Amino acid sequence: MTSTTETRPARDETDRARLLEQLLADTLLDAEAAARLPAPVPGHLRRPPDDGPLTRLPLPASPRAGLADVLPERGAAHDFAPAAISGAELSALLAAADRMDARGWAAEREAGVDLELYCAAWRVTGVDIGLHRYLPDRSQLCRVASLPDGPQAEELVLQREFAQAAALVVITGNLAAALERHGGHGHRLLLTRAGAAGHAAWLTALRLGLVGTVFAGLLPHVLRERASADGYHRAALFAFAVGRPPATEPAPPGRSTDLGPA
Ligand SMILES: Cc1cc2nc3c(=O)[nH]c(=O)nc-3n(C[C@H](O)[C@H](O)[C@H](O)COP(=O)(O)O)c2cc1C
Repeated sequence: MTSTTETRPARDETDRARLLEQLLADTLLDAEAAARLPAPVPGHLRRPPDDGPLTRLPLPASPRAGLADVLPERGAAHDFAPAAISGAELSALLAAADRMDARGWAAEREAGVDLELYCAAWRVTGVDIGLHRYLPDRSQLCRVASLPDGPQAEELVLQREFAQAAALVVITGNLAAALERHGGHGHRLLLTRAGAAGHAAWLTALRLGLVGTVFAGLLPHVLRERASADGYHRAALFAFAVGRPPATEPAPPGRSTDLGPA
């Protein structure tokens, strides 16, 4: 309390000191509260990774079989031959995935809620080993990061067999933008779009004589470190592992598949 004998300038001085004390206390409180909040997403995590070397993709390979012919044999494949797939085949898978989304969800894309397609390439003719972002408008790949090859590639995935695939198509979406536009429904919508895009890639692969399966994708830290996928502005949604089918084992002697005349 201010003494009644205090002169006016002295009282002003005391008030100023109290005010400063109060301000300092508020600042300290804010700093403590801020320390409890999750750190804001740093700028480099929001930057679309598109400044890496570019690879022009060939025209998409034409299907070798009709959908009705391959559907009865369709199944989730976890084994892959060591042979490469061609750049034209990869081009067809990525184009099919993007086309599915463009036709089904044009309004979402126009509103800025994009899916992004990445390719983890290990054995694709004409494409370097690494993680690439697909640029559909230019039919190009932009290399965003290196990837280990061989046994070390198994550390990128939960199920090691997917590291034996020739390539993975990895689908991400802007969850922040989807939630802003649709609330909680935005997440469901993104998952639906990613499901449609992933299956479009799968069906295209089957028509090219390739095999694969849809699955969860690269481990979260791999995409975070290599593609700035913070799980919010760029969230991993779905993936498709693709490769050539393994050579079929010859039938053991004595177990001929030729059943002879009926
Ligand atoms: C949303 C979704 C996620 C999936 N995730 C995985 C996965 O992480 N690992 C896996 O081996 N298969 C995964 N699959 C593939 C299914 O397991 C596979 O399609 C299922 O076993 C059916 O087999 P089929 O396609 O041969 O009929 C996933 C499928 C879907 C639709």
